[in-house]
Amino acid sequence: MAGNGSSREQWGSRLGFILAAAGSAVGLGNIWKFPFITGMNGGAAFVLFYLISILLIGLPVMLIEISIGRKTQLNPVGAFKSISPRGPYFLIGVMGVLTAFVILSYYSVIAGWTLSYIVKAVSGNFMDFTNTAVAIDMVDSFAGSRLDIPLTEIPWTAIDSLSALGLHKDTLLATQVIPSAVLPDVAVEQLKVTWMSIDSVASMGVVRDSLAIWSVVPDTLLPMVAGMEFEAYSSSPNWPLVAHFAFITLCVLVVIKGVKSGIERWNRILMPALFVIILLLVIRGITLTGASAGLKFLFLPDFSKLTGDVMLTALGHAFFTLSLGMGAMMTYGSYLSRKENLMKSALWIVVMDTVVALLAGTAIFSAVFAMGFEPSGGPGLVFNVLPGIFAVMPGGLYVGILFFALLSIAAITSGVSLLEVVTSYFVDQKKWKRSRATLLWGLVIFLIGIPSALSYGLLKEFTLFGMNFFDFFDYMSFKYMLPLGGLFMVLFTIFRWGVGGFLAELRQGGGKLRISNELLIVLLTISAEFVLITFVAGIMGWGK
Ligand code: TRP
Repeated sequence: MAGNGSSREQWGSRLGFILAAAGSAVGLGNIWKFPFITGMNGGAAFVLFYLISILLIGLPVMLIEISIGRKTQLNPVGAFKSISPRGPYFLIGVMGVLTAFVILSYYSVIAGWTLSYIVKAVSGNFMDFTNTAVAIDMVDSFAGSRLDIPLTEIPWTAIDSLSALGLHKDTLLATQVIPSAVLPDVAVEQLKVTWMSIDSVASMGVVRDSLAIWSVVPDTLLPMVAGMEFEAYSSSPNWPLVAHFAFITLCVLVVIKGVKSGIERWNRILMPALFVIILLLVIRGITLTGASAGLKFLFLPDFSKLTGDVMLTALGHAFFTLSLGMGAMMTYGSYLSRKENLMKSALWIVVMDTVVALLAGTAIFSAVFAMGFEPSGGPGLVFNVLPGIFAVMPGGLYVGILFFALLSIAAITSGVSLLEVVTSYFVDQKKWKRSRATLLWGLVIFLIGIPSALSYGLLKEFTLFGMNFFDFFDYMSFKYMLPLGGLFMVLFTIFRWGVGGFLAELRQGGGKLRISNELLIVLLTISAEFVLITFVAGIMGWGK
């Protein structure tokens, strides 16, 4: 069966498809998420496991998705139905479409932040971070009534770092007082540990008084200033929502134009721009003195840091970064013609995605280490640490603008692919007009994303399983839905579609692929077992 006939669009060229698929893969996952989860998971050992995951499971699932898409020329639900009309297999596609809603709803929130940060970068906002008067203003409006925070509200990490300064933890707990002479040290010490946890800074009042004495904000306090700016921004009920709406609107505007004159056209413009920008940033990063510490962190593994949870995070990230496990690549593959070489295309996509992640990691960690900051930092790494670095780095104004432009470009080309999954489902299966599908579901995704957009402000206190909305959506999708979706696709290929069918599709249009059915079964079985073992190790908390 070949979809709904000749009216279905196709890519204009192979390059167009590869750029669009690479555009889907290269996203916030590579530039925002990869560096911070690498930072939080101990560096190179995590990176190594991520690379292994890409090879063992990423590439096979990429091939499976593109093949199923091209063979059926249908959206994920229609695709499974067309290969296997009976049985529950279409549910893999249904789960995929639902996952697209979940991912795009929160993805758009961070993407919105990046759009806002382009504006901040262009207006020279980061350059003001070294200005003590500006910093004092921020402290005032930020801390408000909290200028003197009692010791009881200071988390343990703060008390530990006080102890590290030679103060006695027991005494501190007994007296509940921090000697004021050490408060500035505490502030600095704390910011090194937690980056941006203003509440954990013992007394903002003392930070404020110290600022008034200094002529410029000391480098060690820059992440704090950038952090306050970010905190003020992300906790506001207004701008993050506007930006979230703006991002969804951009995605709708691209998708509504269709596959060739919307998605392909924009990827052809934006992806080359992305490559140029990232190369410029890498050059800036590695030419800073002291950049090599960052490279060591990224590339020299310390295996003692590898636990089940670290492995599952790396596996989930391999799916996320390659846009796998929910039918996005299947959808893009469905607009591909019979003549294309799938093996080559898939390799290109995987290689481009991995290279961009490593380049982004290189640019970011060389700057972070060269400027003497810490590599952890969590989801806020690029928002509350990097702007502080741009404030003092040579050429920082331009680097900052380029960086957030890069992030926005990457996000748009990925957001578009998520929206296309939903659109194609309604266009193919429900015979909707493309414009109606994109407008309506774009709006719905905006609405679903509102709680995530408010997760750092109004809805901060609201948690699901101990996570705010945003973290919950992120966690569910990349640790569970994507790896499971990918696993089901592999099992479907082995047991239902059959490797014979898969191989026939792979060979269609592509050079000579010399691999036997038996060998392919072995390889796919290894992939499936790899996912299962990692999954179990992650859930059981191995190595903790
Ligand atoms: N791969 C993108 C990134 O790295 C995100 C993304 C786009 C995605 N489409 C997807 C993730 C489909 C999972 C599934 O940022």
